[in-house]
Amino acid sequence: MTVKIEKMDHRGRGIGYHDGKITFVENALPDEEVEISVVKETAKYKEAAVVNFISKSSTRTKSKCPYYEECGGCHLRHMSYDDTLKFKKNKLIEILSKYAGIETEIEMIKNKNRDFYRNKVEIHIENGKAGFYKKGSHEIVETDRCLNVEEAINTVMRSLDFFHLTEANMTIKANYNGEVIIDIKTEETPEIEIEVLRNKMKLVGIILNGQTIFGADHYIEVLEGMLFKETYNSFFQVNRYINEQLFEILKKHLREDATVLDLCCGVGTLSLIAASKTKKVYGIEIVENAIRDAIVNARMNKIDNVEFMLGDAFKNAKMISEDIDTVIIDPPRSGLSPEGLENVLSLNPNSIIYISCDPVTLSRDLKELIKNYSIQKFYLLDMFSYTYHTECVCILNRR
Ligand SMILES: C[S@@+](CC[C@H](N)C(=O)[O-])C[C@H]1O[C@@H](n2cnc3c(N)ncnc32)[C@H](O)[C@@H]1O
Repeated sequence: MTVKIEKMDHRGRGIGYHDGKITFVENALPDEEVEISVVKETAKYKEAAVVNFISKSSTRTKSKCPYYEECGGCHLRHMSYDDTLKFKKNKLIEILSKYAGIETEIEMIKNKNRDFYRNKVEIHIENGKAGFYKKGSHEIVETDRCLNVEEAINTVMRSLDFFHLTEANMTIKANYNGEVIIDIKTEETPEIEIEVLRNKMKLVGIILNGQTIFGADHYIEVLEGMLFKETYNSFFQVNRYINEQLFEILKKHLREDATVLDLCCGVGTLSLIAASKTKKVYGIEIVENAIRDAIVNARMNKIDNVEFMLGDAFKNAKMISEDIDTVIIDPPRSGLSPEGLENVLSLNPNSIIYISCDPVTLSRDLKELIKNYSIQKFYLLDMFSYTYHTECVCILNRR
């Protein structure tokens, strides 16, 4: 079976037609002709893998990762870095137009560290095999070095034998200093060789099923000279360099006399950056550990014009009695709830800074917001290099 690839979908797969049915082909580029094997078929579409390249695109790049063909951890390492950025920009243009009718200039912020940029990874251990899931399946690809993650995390991945786990999920995080914190979920009672591990890495803590069995349940991250306590299960942006670019964008678009509301503030990174530039900041976050970290972070950085609140930011957005000049929205992938959107609009802020890792829900929310707000600036940040994921910042001003 052969297919001619016509374009790419939003997940970086090639799109062709086989027997008249739309067919999504992993690892195939526009203009390539490929022999395929179908891995899934429904009434509407087929999903396929390349068996053989009949013709290759002149833009195809050989991946530096030996696991790339199999591993589902990233999606675009068969493209040059600049082509991945073009793909992301085009994807965003299409999504903004389709879901919100928006056409806007997009400023691209590149990732300085294209490899070894992630400070967090989740790996699976099944039948004693450890790694990431294979593309489109739950089969493990055994991996001991991932080009996307920081080397401190790779050191942990190369030391998994000392954990003596056969069935588990593990989240590994690393900070600016290469210190690591490891969160394990398993039904086993592993005899972890902690002393051996301590000799191999800067091990800050191991958390087993929610219990800290070694060291601490948090570490300190440093960004732009500010200190951030980060508990193992608090959210933190995965790319340190791009996170700092995000801070720069924020500072550029905040007014000094502003009162700011940071919805979904996590451990308070954006709130504290905003507080260092503005009159007053309120942050709301639903995860208790994260809001505790945020309060400590304000104290550690000697910032006293910020208040943090635990709760549902979408329900509680209206609880601040002061006039809010700027609302920062940095929600999970699901975007704003209908109630959240209504509450943000009822605050009637002069500006909204909407940060999003999901362009579809961002577009859905922007479609409503642009009835009262105009887009001043739109940024695309390459937070998740060589994957199809995007991070966007949209600056909106009241009309
Ligand atoms: C994309 S993260 C952003 C965190 C923070 N702004 C940062 O840059 O690190 C989204 C955050 O929203 C929180 N969250 C999710 N739903 C929420 C809700 N309904 N109310 C408040 N916070 C929520 C998550 O716990 C997470 O910390």
